[in-house]
Amino acid sequence: MLLKNLYRTSFKTFRYYSVSNLMKNPPKILITGGLGQLGVECAKYLRYKYGTENVILSDIIKPSEEIVKDGPYLFVDILDFKGLQKIVVDHRVDWLIHFSALLSAIGEQNVPLAVRVNIEGMHNVIELAKQYKLRVFVPSTIGAFGPDSPRNPTPNITVQRPRTIYGVSKVHAELLGEYYHYKFGLDFRCLRFPGVISSDPPGGGTTDYAIAIFHDILRKGHYQCYLKPETRLPMMHVKDALRALSEFLEVPNDRLNRRVYNVTSMSFTPEELGDAMAKYVDDIRITYQPDSRQEIADSWPQVFDDSEARRDWDWQPEIDLDNLVRLMLKEVKEKIVANGLSS
Ligand SMILES: NC(=O)c1ccc[n+]([C@@H]2O[C@H](COP(=O)([O-])OP(=O)(O)OC[C@H]3O[C@@H](n4cnc5c(N)ncnc54)[C@H](O)[C@@H]3O)[C@@H](O)[C@H]2O)c1
Repeated sequence: MLLKNLYRTSFKTFRYYSVSNLMKNPPKILITGGLGQLGVECAKYLRYKYGTENVILSDIIKPSEEIVKDGPYLFVDILDFKGLQKIVVDHRVDWLIHFSALLSAIGEQNVPLAVRVNIEGMHNVIELAKQYKLRVFVPSTIGAFGPDSPRNPTPNITVQRPRTIYGVSKVHAELLGEYYHYKFGLDFRCLRFPGVISSDPPGGGTTDYAIAIFHDILRKGHYQCYLKPETRLPMMHVKDALRALSEFLEVPNDRLNRRVYNVTSMSFTPEELGDAMAKYVDDIRITYQPDSRQEIADSWPQVFDDSEARRDWDWQPEIDLDNLVRLMLKEVKEKIVANGLSS
C-alpha cells in the first residue's frame, strides 16, 4: 500500500514536469553508495519510474541475493576514478546519484576515512560529472550547519560553520557543486535532508534514534535514547525524501533559483516521538543516557526552513508525525515477523 501510494504520487509529478521526454527517453542512472539506508529504496523508486535496467545500484559491499535479483548491481569504489569512468562509459550513464558517505557519528570515529570517502570521493564525482556532462545529485544534510547558524528556523542561506567532519565535507560538496555549475555549467543538484526515517538500518548518523526507537520498543518495550528528551531535530519519512529527490531531479533548470535547497517534513523531540508512539503501543518505556551525539545534535537546526524549495519547485511534504509513526510501526512489525525478534 505504501509503495502504491508512493508510486502514484511520483507519477503525478512525472506528468507535471516532463511528460514525453523522460518517458520516451528515460535517463540511465547510477547510484553510488547504494546499499545504505537510502540507496536500496531509491533504486526501487526510480526503477518503477524509469525501468529496472535504467537504474544501476552500486557500492563496495557484497550484495544479498535479493539485491542482485532486483536489478543491475555493480561494484563501484568512489575513490577509483578510472573505475568510475569505465562504468559511466560502458553503461552510458546520464544521471549520477551520489550517496556514498560516512555519516556524522561514524565520521567522527574515523576522520581520515571520512575525509577520503566524503571529500576525495566528491572530487571524483564532480570531475566525472563535468567530463561526461552528467546531471549529478548529491545529498547534503542539516549537519551542514553548526552552532553559529540560526537554529529555529534555519534558512536556506545562512552561516554554515559545522563542527563535524561530516558537516564540513557536505559544505565542501555544496560549494564545489555550485562552483562547477557557475564555472562549467554542470547540472549539479543538492538537497539538504533532515534525519531520514525508514525501517531499514541507519548508517550511523545523529538522528538514528528515531529509527532505533521503533525496533527496540516493538521488540523489548524499552528504548534507551542517546539524546536528551527535549532535543528537537528536523525529520522526514523516506517516502517524502525520495519523492523530494525524484521531483527535484525532474525540475527544468530554468525553475531553479539555487542548486542547493533545504527540504523537510517536520520537527520533533524524542519525548514527542515517544508520546506519538504511545497512542498506538501500550507500555512504552524510554530512558535517556546522552552520549557524544548530544553535542552534535545541539549544534544542528531544530526547525528547517524549506520555503525556497516550496516556492521554486512546489515541494510539499505529505507525511506528518502521526502518519510517520503509523507507517513505521507497520513496517518495523513486518520486518520483525519476517526476520525474527533478534535481528
Ligand atoms: N540517512 C539520513 O538520515 C541522511 C540525511 C541527510 C543526508 N543523507 C545523505 O544521504 C546519503 C545516503 O545516506 P545513507 O543513510 O543511505 O548512508 P549509509 O551510511 O547508510 O550508506 C552509505 C553507503 O556508502 C558506501 N560507501 C562507503 N565507502 C564507499 C566507497 N569508498 N565507495 C562507494 N561506496 C562507499 C557504504 O558501503 C554505504 O553502503 C549520504 O550521502 C548521506 O550523507 C542521509
